[in-house]
Amino acid sequence: MTEIKTKTLAQLHDLTNRWAVITGGAGHVGFVAAQTLLELGANVILVDRSESGLEKAKQALKTAERVHTLVCDLSQRSDVDKAVLQIIEWTDNHLAVLINNAAFVGTDKLEGWAVPFDQQSIVTFEQCLTVNLTSPFQLCQGCAPSLTKFGQGDSSASIINVSSIYAHIGPRMEMYEGTAMGNPAAYGASKAGLELSTKWLASNLAPHVRANNIVLGGIFRGQPESFLNQYNKHNLMGRMAEEEDLKGAFALLASDASKYMTGQSIVIDGGWLAL
Ligand SMILES: NC(=O)c1ccc[n+]([C@@H]2O[C@H](COP(=O)([O-])OP(=O)(O)OC[C@H]3O[C@@H](n4cnc5c(N)ncnc54)[C@H](O)[C@@H]3O)[C@@H](O)[C@H]2O)c1
Repeated sequence: MTEIKTKTLAQLHDLTNRWAVITGGAGHVGFVAAQTLLELGANVILVDRSESGLEKAKQALKTAERVHTLVCDLSQRSDVDKAVLQIIEWTDNHLAVLINNAAFVGTDKLEGWAVPFDQQSIVTFEQCLTVNLTSPFQLCQGCAPSLTKFGQGDSSASIINVSSIYAHIGPRMEMYEGTAMGNPAAYGASKAGLELSTKWLASNLAPHVRANNIVLGGIFRGQPESFLNQYNKHNLMGRMAEEEDLKGAFALLASDASKYMTGQSIVIDGGWLAL
């Protein structure tokens, strides 16, 4: 057999001098995505509507020289347009990674959101679609030329959309009884739309830009015991995810370790969707 020459895993995961944008960068998953990419050498731009949250995240990441923060309300088109211009400037129009992670989530306290079906409001439904589905479209569209420019070099650029098991299945509503948590119709609908837009982006931006989903099950955040007892029963690992469980997928999809992978999903759910 002739010798097969491959890069080492360290070389394939190396993100030195690459720029990555992470929306929802002040939140839990955004933080672990940033930690992962920084560990691999990237410069990151954290995008969030919470200025104080961004500042806290930047301090906690302890690599200030490689962390930029951008306050942006993704529900406002003009804010997203401004963010795109700033991203183009900071990255010198060469963006390597775009992680669409910000979202309205089940614990958000919004009127007409985590409430029974008959009280879920159309206004909130539409706001959820705007943040969870339309803003990733707008950001991808705005950043596509920059991603493509990067991807015309030796490595392709990577879009990672953060989705949920509820893009695939309905929720077991009994789990939420007696808690302040919820799982409104708009959430799963927005994530299902996001997952399909990933395939669309993969098909339209290849070969210079790849697009994949990370599909998450529930993450442990000190949820009420009644919820945990039920959640853990429907889960092959018998527990909720921890942030650390997500690092491998971010490292893989953001880097050349997945350079032949596009239009796909990595599901990190402890086996929830396998049952
Ligand atoms: N936490 C879970 O159990 C879980 C499960 C499945 C999927 N997910 C997905 O993971 C992603 C991250 O969730 P998380 O658990 O880190 O939630 P989180 O609430 O900790 O973080 C979400 C971040 O998004 C930001 N955000 C929300 N609306 C915004 C807007 N209009 N403009 C700018 N920023 C905005 C928030 O300020 C927050 O910092 C989401 O896409 C979520 O759907 C989470």
